[in-house]
Amino acid sequence: MIERNIYVDIYKIDKKKKSFDGVHYAVRIVKSPIFWMVFILILLLFEYWRNQVDPMAYVPFLSSHAPSQPLFFRIPYPPALIEFSTSQKYLSSNFQAFNRLGNHLFEVVSIFSLAKKLKRTPLFLIQDCYHEKMLEDLKTIVPDLIAQFAVVNGSVPNSIKPTVFHEKCCTFQDPSILEDIQDEYLYLNGTHYQSWKYFPGMRDDLINFLKEPDHNFLSLPESSDTNFIKCVHIRRGDFIEFLIPIADKTFIINAMKFIDEKGRSAGQAAQYLPIQKFPEGRTRINSYTVFFGDDFQFMEEIRNSTVKEDGFVSRMSPADDLLYSKNNCDVVLITAAHSTFGWWMGYLSKGNRVYHTDILYTDDINIREGLLEPSDYFLPHWIPLKSSGLAVVESRK
Ligand SMILES: *[C@@H]1O[C@H](CO)[C@@H](O)[C@H](O)[C@H]1NC(C)=O
Ligand SMILES: *[C@@H]1O[C@H](CO)[C@@H](O)[C@H](O)[C@H]1NC(C)=O
Ligand SMILES: *[C@@H]1O[C@H](CO)[C@@H](O)[C@H](O)[C@H]1NC(C)=O
Repeated sequence: MIERNIYVDIYKIDKKKKSFDGVHYAVRIVKSPIFWMVFILILLLFEYWRNQVDPMAYVPFLSSHAPSQPLFFRIPYPPALIEFSTSQKYLSSNFQAFNRLGNHLFEVVSIFSLAKKLKRTPLFLIQDCYHEKMLEDLKTIVPDLIAQFAVVNGSVPNSIKPTVFHEKCCTFQDPSILEDIQDEYLYLNGTHYQSWKYFPGMRDDLINFLKEPDHNFLSLPESSDTNFIKCVHIRRGDFIEFLIPIADKTFIINAMKFIDEKGRSAGQAAQYLPIQKFPEGRTRINSYTVFFGDDFQFMEEIRNSTVKEDGFVSRMSPADDLLYSKNNCDVVLITAAHSTFGWWMGYLSKGNRVYHTDILYTDDINIREGLLEPSDYFLPHWIPLKSSGLAVVESRK
């Protein structure tokens, strides 16, 4: 009996000591500067990782309805000091500034075009450091477009109430409903504006807005009367990470074959028809392929197993890739159906001949959630491709 009591007491003391130790230990950890250093490092890494997301800013593990906002370091600047009664009317929007170039272009081009339609001045509010970066990035590629925006440093002041418009990233909403709004400052809370229907017929204007490249693209072939250039955009990196559909090697190689075949059969008929009717280019003496994307090893492998020395892998900046496309891409193949950067490569390309993976045959989250209307996103003359057995074929719209 006595023995047992002693045991229980010792046990009790032991347990108390243990829990005390736990708290003590935790306090010591929290007090340690190393703990805080590691904590901040993890936050930084997390933030860095989140900022790699471009595609849609719809991150699968978050609510797919809410655009992902970087959680940390998105410290808004003080409210913009704006003047009222300026005799002008302005249009601005909720730019998702932490995204990348493809998304930036959709947003500013749409707001620019909507402003024109609504007889307003487009306004760019530098709401935080991400907006600062977005503005800089855009100036490297479309400086003359940005020059037409009024730019004010500061976040949206409380005196401006956001107007709900364009709530689905990639579905066009008729902007006529905005015509009756008389507010001096119209701030739309829509994001992404991924639809060419917001800027119909503006391709030539936009091409003129593009900066003239300040150097030759010496490492890559030039499109000419004798050189035909096929451009293949392959996005992988963060798309894999965020479960956004990408094309596999077999699909890409077969899609390239499909385009070549189309060019070949066109070439046979070409003796009867004008050459420009067959931009897939088999009537030109040389044919080159240039790969664009973020996975150089993958692109080298495809080049090696297809076009070999007639193929090139671009290692230029995104802005240079777009400028190259404008001057040289006779045909563009977009392999990751929903890459906005691929979209712009195609839209601005010299040949304006675009093939893309049919997004309806991919597991795109925006399609699943009814946020993307293919006919609003892809241009009517672009050609969707899908797998069929062992080949790739044109997909019916
Ligand atoms: C905008 O204002 C912030 C502080 O409010 C400042 O840090 C930043 O440099 C300013 N940017 C420009 C372009 O003036
Ligand atoms: C826009 O405003 C509506 C209504 O207040 C809200 O439901 C929606 O989440 C807002 N969208 C964004 C992107 O902030
Ligand atoms: C390309 O193919 C050759 C042989 O055909 C091989 O030696 C070389 O390592 C390959 N390069 C790449 C990057 O796959």
